[in-house]
Amino acid sequence: MHALIVVSHPDPQSLTHAVAQAYAQGVRQSGDHTTEIADLAAERFQPTFHQGDRAAYLLQAALPDDVPREQARIDRADALVLVYPVYWWSFPGQLKGWIDRVFSNGWAYDETSDGRLLKRLGRLSVHLIGIGGADGGTYARHGYDRAMRTQIDHGIFGFCGAKVVTSEFLTDVNGTAAASHVETARRLGAATFASAHVAAAA
Ligand SMILES: Cc1cc2nc3c(=O)[nH]c(=O)nc-3n(C[C@H](O)[C@H](O)[C@H](O)COP(=O)(O)O)c2cc1C
Repeated sequence: MHALIVVSHPDPQSLTHAVAQAYAQGVRQSGDHTTEIADLAAERFQPTFHQGDRAAYLLQAALPDDVPREQARIDRADALVLVYPVYWWSFPGQLKGWIDRVFSNGWAYDETSDGRLLKRLGRLSVHLIGIGGADGGTYARHGYDRAMRTQIDHGIFGFCGAKVVTSEFLTDVNGTAAASHVETARRLGAATFASAHVAAAA
């Protein structure tokens, strides 16, 4: 099995990158699975939804060249893992732009002429790890975690039929919890294909 780990953070020395690396190590530790890390900042992914994306959305033109490349990476993967810092209770802009452009009409979903929605990512399992400065109590008290899960887990991945298996917030990064986040990521990585393992052995 293969996991594509998408990380959106400008600093390779950041906790976010350490979490992504630990997650990848966890996936690979059994020796049975492979990973690819898509570092959107280092790769300079261009997140602005432009006129070419709009034409493709309207099914009037082919997708801009950089989009099928990202879709092919997802097509090669059994699991898509997003590792990102929470910015203003949401994705960083670059990751949101990656979703806007890559999860395109005709690839992630189809709208039929009679108005029905066809979800096209039913084979994909999704693992979400948001890293936040605030503590878990703040997320719960204001409903930020619930709001983000509604918007991202349900609104984006549910819309396309993908199954969100993991949806975690690693919070309070400036407090004592930070040290354990890398270990948590490694554990989550190791669990990514654990049920597939069991199914294959049965
Ligand atoms: C522009 C910006 C917005 C932020 N907004 C939030 C937020 O809404 N909620 C939160 O918990 N942390 C917020 N933070 C804190 C980051 O989530 C935190 O610094 C980051 O996850 C730490 O990980 P890093 O060391 O990998 O950057 C924000 C940080 C920045 C730079």
